[in-house]
Amino acid sequence: MNIRQLSVHENPPMELLLAADPSQKLVESYVKRGHCFVAESNDQWIGVYILLPTKPQTIEIVNIAVDESHQGQGIGKDLLRHAISTAKTLGYTTIEIGTGNSSIGQLALYQKCGFRIVEVDLNFFLRHYEEEIIENGIRCMDMIRLSQNI
Ligand code: ACO
Repeated sequence: MNIRQLSVHENPPMELLLAADPSQKLVESYVKRGHCFVAESNDQWIGVYILLPTKPQTIEIVNIAVDESHQGQGIGKDLLRHAISTAKTLGYTTIEIGTGNSSIGQLALYQKCGFRIVEVDLNFFLRHYEEEIIENGIRCMDMIRLSQNI
């Protein structure tokens, strides 16, 4: 597997990006402004992440996804490590990521990769998403924000 930055001439893998964020409007808006990286294997895109500068010195992983048939094999962890290392190389000192209160596996993964919970944005998903989101039998309502110094 190889992880590389997508060139401006390549179309981003929308299907994968929408697996991480069901809002096509939001994805289309940040995909243009961020750095998009893909994981490829046998000429197939099996993973993606997008880094978006948000504040001076701070960059956020606004989207990360692994193709369903390749999940649970460590690719998500590899993408997160790659994102952290890319952010460091670009000179950022803080990296952030956010996910819903119902995303139990993602919260586990991000903490295993060194992120700490720093904030809860109450009702974020009720304000920004029209469709109701249920995961692990839990209604997704609040954004859990995580951060790490790099
Ligand atoms: N409890 C404890 N640990 C858990 C749990 C759980 N319920 N669920 C998962 N994990 C751990 C695994 O044990 C593993 O850790 P380990 O290596 O120490 O065993 C880790 O989380 C999963 O690691 P990977 O195999 O590297 O992850 P994967 O390749 O499956 O990718 C991802 C994870 C990107 C979240 C993938 O499942 C995915 O694409 N999901 C759908 C899209 C999505 O939800 N994206 C994130 C949205 S938030 C955002 O984009 C900012």
